[in-house]
Amino acid sequence: MSATVITVTSGKGGVGKTTTTAAFGAALAMAGHRVCVVDFDMGLRNLDLVMGVEKRVVYDFLHVAHGTAKLAQALVRDKRVPDLFLLATSQTADKGELTPEAIDHVMNLLRPEFDYILCDSPAGIEHGAMMALHHADHALVVCNPEITSVRDADRIMGYIAARSRRAQDGMAPVREHLIVTRYNEERVRRGEMLSLSAIQDILAMPLLGLVPDSPSVLRASNAGRPASLDAGTEVGRAYRTAARRFLDQTRQTARAPLGMGAGFLSALAETAQRGVLRRLFRHA
Ligand SMILES: Nc1ncnc2c1ncn2[C@@H]1O[C@H](COP(=O)(O)OP(=O)(O)OP(=O)(O)O)[C@@H](O)[C@H]1O
Ligand SMILES: [Mg+2]
Repeated sequence: MSATVITVTSGKGGVGKTTTTAAFGAALAMAGHRVCVVDFDMGLRNLDLVMGVEKRVVYDFLHVAHGTAKLAQALVRDKRVPDLFLLATSQTADKGELTPEAIDHVMNLLRPEFDYILCDSPAGIEHGAMMALHHADHALVVCNPEITSVRDADRIMGYIAARSRRAQDGMAPVREHLIVTRYNEERVRRGEMLSLSAIQDILAMPLLGLVPDSPSVLRASNAGRPASLDAGTEVGRAYRTAARRFLDQTRQTARAPLGMGAGFLSALAETAQRGVLRRLFRHA
């Protein structure tokens, strides 16, 4: 097994990266894949809280990087979804300790153990965000329907294109997928928020998920439950759909016949998705 690395990123802070990492990671694990979510937000542990495992964190990323703990000692297994694991970040460490060598070492330990590694980026476009992007095979670009968020998502796409390991090693580029969160159809109608099609026109990136703005997210994070565990909520369904779509699209790419590239297939899938999403939201 050699894991596919998915980095959850945004540029702008507070848009829903950590919520998405937990929910998308849990949805992939519920679909039968072995998943590790990794918190790259040094000094600001959040992912363990959103997953409700904070009391069980003993060792973190830097302990593993420095060899003071084995990977198996640091991984925290979810009690509800047995194929879901967390590697926590350090709460106190100096951010400079998150070096490329430390990350390479931990990633090399994680890759053979998992199908998917999800990296939760810190806000911004500085060191921590770049470190979280470095190993990405896929990037989930999270944005809210606001111009500042869309602009920062656009900037982060430039960094992904230039700074990832794939870019530096001349490999096929990181595949980017858009997740629009906190979408409020009513506010879009009133012109207070950007519409989905306006966001897509600016970002020109395939849409993977459209997550409504909902108080169920805060309730889930206060209860320490990844939002996708609640299949009865719109948000839960949106994240499960996004994970299913991701699995379908990446499978389609692997099987793309000669002469019919991944772009063609994902464009087809995307057209179908947009129709479904529009219908879903008209009836919501
Ligand atoms: N779909 C949603 N509906 C309502 N609230 C949401 C939604 N998604 C996220 N939130 C809320 O937005 C806030 C920020 O979410 P989150 O911590 O996931 O963002 P982040 O991008 O990881 O932030 P940071 O950049 O600080 O790491 C949280 O209070 C969360 O509960
Ligand atoms: Mg976060």
